[in-house]
Amino acid sequence: MPHWINLSYANVATTSSRAHRISSEWADSLARGGAAEFDGEAEKKGMMPLRTAASKLLSCGVEDVCVGSSATELLCSLAWAISPSEGSNVVSSRVAFPSTVYPWARVCESNGAEIRLAEHDDSLYTDPDDILSLIDEKTSVVTISHVEYSNGQRYDLEKLSETAHSVGALIVVDATQSMGVVPIDAYSTKADVIVSSGYKWLRGTYGAAVGFISPSVVSDLNPGLIGFRSNADLWDLRADRLVLPDDASRFEYTTIHFGAALGLAAAIEELVEIGMDEVWRHDLELVDSLVKGISGMGVEIASPMSEGERSAIVSLRLPNGISSATVADRLQSDYSILVTSRSGLLRVSPHIDNNMGEIESLVSALGEILHR
Ligand SMILES: Cc1ncc(COP(=O)(O)O)c(C=O)c1O
Repeated sequence: MPHWINLSYANVATTSSRAHRISSEWADSLARGGAAEFDGEAEKKGMMPLRTAASKLLSCGVEDVCVGSSATELLCSLAWAISPSEGSNVVSSRVAFPSTVYPWARVCESNGAEIRLAEHDDSLYTDPDDILSLIDEKTSVVTISHVEYSNGQRYDLEKLSETAHSVGALIVVDATQSMGVVPIDAYSTKADVIVSSGYKWLRGTYGAAVGFISPSVVSDLNPGLIGFRSNADLWDLRADRLVLPDDASRFEYTTIHFGAALGLAAAIEELVEIGMDEVWRHDLELVDSLVKGISGMGVEIASPMSEGERSAIVSLRLPNGISSATVADRLQSDYSILVTSRSGLLRVSPHIDNNMGEIESLVSALGEILHR
């Protein structure tokens, strides 16, 4: 098996080995004995380890956290729960990951609401003021990727939240590209909702995601996705009534791959043990070393690099005529190095499992590919 150097956590993590073991053991136990190995009580409590771990990472209450199968699924349920009314608008950025916007576009289409997207420049940079200027008295939701997937631009959540709240709008944050790398204190962001997928910076496997729902809005939200698990008393199975839990778990509606959720809980606990300030420091150090290493190669940094706007995603514009897709393919096939080609840029996104030696390997491989 090749030894991959995965410098593409913005795409898919190399799953934390602890998470992989726990997830696989859970799947094995089910294959051995179904409910004899994972009974009703275990199913009832199945989300708790992940809710607990995520609450530590976000410094919020366990009751403010819910579990889903993907970020997109949670966002869809939220979009129907908030259901922007006719004549209102939803604000985001044109460069946002589609799942940050599509769920809202679907509801807006149905309700007769408008989607407003702030424009970006040639480096995919969105001026935060352009987002703020789209917010008005008719805005019902600001939906934003905390860190943009294509160039790693990070937004000041507090500022966006304050402006959204000043007109009575909610702010929904897709933190799939930030949670697990950027330290986030959920209450300090003043966001109403924060959602993250589990298989990127949180280092889980596919099939689990987490959401923070602020206690100030949770009781007003009637989830768009509903099922037997939506009832507060899970095993009181009666189809003729539904009593939602009064906390964020009202967004949990059915069975999921509990192994993925248990594994993700363990992966998040690892980050909590290391400490998010240390994770953030480590990841930025790797990015800085890459930026230094490639200077003089004719490569342009397309990502914002100021303290307030940077992240652990750095996107490179290659010299004229050199395709980022071809270079990403060559790095993978000839050097076993994983990076991603996105929007014509070569996106590098190292994380806590990477070290300086691996960045040096990328720098030297890029040097060979670009100058041969
Ligand atoms: C910002 C953002 N949100 C959501 C997703 C997708 O998450 P999921 O697969 O859990 O729906 C991605 C994947 O790249 C992403 O970058």
